[in-house]
Amino acid sequence: MPDIESLLKEKRVFEPPKEFAKRAKWSKREFTALRKLGEKSPERFWAQMAKRHVSWFKPWRKVLEWKAPYAKWFVGAQTNVSYNCLDRHLENGRRNKAALIWEGEPGDSRVLTYGQLHREVCKFANVLKGLGVAKGDRVALYMPLVPEAVIAMLACTRIGAPHSVVFGGFSAESLRDRINDAGAKVVITADGGHRRGSAFALKPAVDEAVAGCPGVESVVVVQRTRQDTAMKPGRDHWWHALMATVSADCPPAKLDAEHPLFILYTSGTTGQPKGILHTTGGYLTHVAATTQAIFDLGDDDVYWCTADVGWITGHSYVVYGPLANGATVLLYEGVPTHPGPDRWWSLIEKYGVTVLYTAPTAIRTFIRLGDEHPNRHDLSSLRLLGSVGEPINPEAWMWYHRVIGGKRCPIVDTWWQTETGGIMITPLPGAVPTKPGSATLPFPGIDAAVLDADGKEVKPRAGGFLAVRKPWPGMLRGIWGDAKRYEQTYWSKWKKPTYFPGDGAHRDDKGYFWILGRIDDVMNISGHRIGTMEVESAIVSHEQVAEAAVVGRPDEITGTAIVAFVTPRSGTAAGAALVEELRGHVAKHIGAIAKPADIRFTDALPKTRSGKIMRRLLRDIAAGKETVGDTTTLEDYSVLAKLRESEE
Ligand code: PRX
Repeated sequence: MPDIESLLKEKRVFEPPKEFAKRAKWSKREFTALRKLGEKSPERFWAQMAKRHVSWFKPWRKVLEWKAPYAKWFVGAQTNVSYNCLDRHLENGRRNKAALIWEGEPGDSRVLTYGQLHREVCKFANVLKGLGVAKGDRVALYMPLVPEAVIAMLACTRIGAPHSVVFGGFSAESLRDRINDAGAKVVITADGGHRRGSAFALKPAVDEAVAGCPGVESVVVVQRTRQDTAMKPGRDHWWHALMATVSADCPPAKLDAEHPLFILYTSGTTGQPKGILHTTGGYLTHVAATTQAIFDLGDDDVYWCTADVGWITGHSYVVYGPLANGATVLLYEGVPTHPGPDRWWSLIEKYGVTVLYTAPTAIRTFIRLGDEHPNRHDLSSLRLLGSVGEPINPEAWMWYHRVIGGKRCPIVDTWWQTETGGIMITPLPGAVPTKPGSATLPFPGIDAAVLDADGKEVKPRAGGFLAVRKPWPGMLRGIWGDAKRYEQTYWSKWKKPTYFPGDGAHRDDKGYFWILGRIDDVMNISGHRIGTMEVESAIVSHEQVAEAAVVGRPDEITGTAIVAFVTPRSGTAAGAALVEELRGHVAKHIGAIAKPADIRFTDALPKTRSGKIMRRLLRDIAAGKETVGDTTTLEDYSVLAKLRESEE
């Protein structure tokens, strides 16, 4: 019995556009050569990347020390992340180039050049020192998406204080637990931020959290919304008041390559969130090299990754990768649909965005809203599109390609995780032909495979467990304070030390990877183990559907029956006729085995704030159970109530 079956057949192939390929920073020739080098010797490949993409204060003695499952990369070397993201650009002609172009939700905007960003970062690093933050001390951030969030992150790296960014949508309780787990002594926040047309407050949640954090000595507050904000004397300080008192001279600390860079919490399916630890030199090498190779950034680009800095995508591909490459980065504070459903497209037109990196959940939302909104805007500046965070259904990929990319932009579907630090499986836009729904091939130097339960590689087209067999420089170095959990969660699935990401996948006969979704979500239907991605993709390929989530519920006959939660496109009549049509549609596209037993229509699916569908909650609803487990990351609680009503 295979561990997971693969049913979907996708045949479309898109070659890299000729013009793009001609000018690409990584040509096909280079990609092929580096891939070979990476297969022969990942260490030599990564050493080459480290020399090319990172400036070091002191060279390494050894590229890799691997005592499974613990890796040390670039042993003995010294560098500094903020030096690489800022100082070296001041010496290479980029001093007056825009580093950050920021737009707030109300429409206010700011531009910071590399020279200005460097100055702000140096000053804030001195502020942190003034508050008693020393090398190794942890600093927590709980902020809206304003330039100060990036400044604070870089300032932490400048003095070697690991940051822990907690997404501003988390509750006071989640913030408290994360602050305490990391042992942070300073918290950086703002009075509030703007979202969906109004100002929300952040500081009250910090006050509530910090009341339960005995280790916190100071709170720094950015004035963003100017709403009334209580300040506790002695503990709380306004950002602007502190910045007015410090010098702009702060040399970067010379840090060991393995010095802790940041902790980022990611929620597991159960229990306590895990504090994923990343370190300095290897992480920077991984994100700097992948950013150049995959996003092809040059000095004429305006690059927009829509993630918040509270997620790993924000760390690696809003802040560190792009700034290490001297790129111009667009930041937007608010929601995509304020003041109207075309805000994103108007931003792309206004700033001439050339590279857009976003998530399938956003793409599916725009599909539902209708093509007329992007079609109203001039999107011709775009030359490359990216996707991350979930499997992208082939039909959503095609829509992205056609409506946003004008059929001329390559799409890079990038597979990776908080734990991997940087992108692992991805096309290179000028070198690798793409197939809708496939993340294509491993990045050079990454030894990814699809294995069965015994650790043997499965045959082409057979489903199995995604695995990474060799260490890579951006890999997590552990779970903060919990070595055992690190070893058990990621390294104990097979006898040989092999990284287990928790996803199902298969490879086609060209070796392309197709991610089938989280292994925890696999459904066992009459003894067939079916992933969620393919059934959802079949449903989404129906022209009246914008988004779908499928889960299993217990069934006396088949063991598990498939329940589909479906969001129709706007203007669609959702009724019994559509239910029958969709069942037939799935049967036709992947077979009767995957035909949903129940189909329920809903305006919205329960999602995490980072846009992932929470199938765990849908499973409870499908089975008629009360929702159990952690719902603190749910974006919109009313969705759950509405889904329950749809049962009656
Ligand atoms: O299941 C995979 C899915 O997102 C998981 C990692 O989530 P997180 O740590 O929040 O990081 C998201 C941003 C990197 C993976 O285990 N995932 C991410 N990218 C893709 C994906 N699934 C399919 N295709 C992708 N491109």
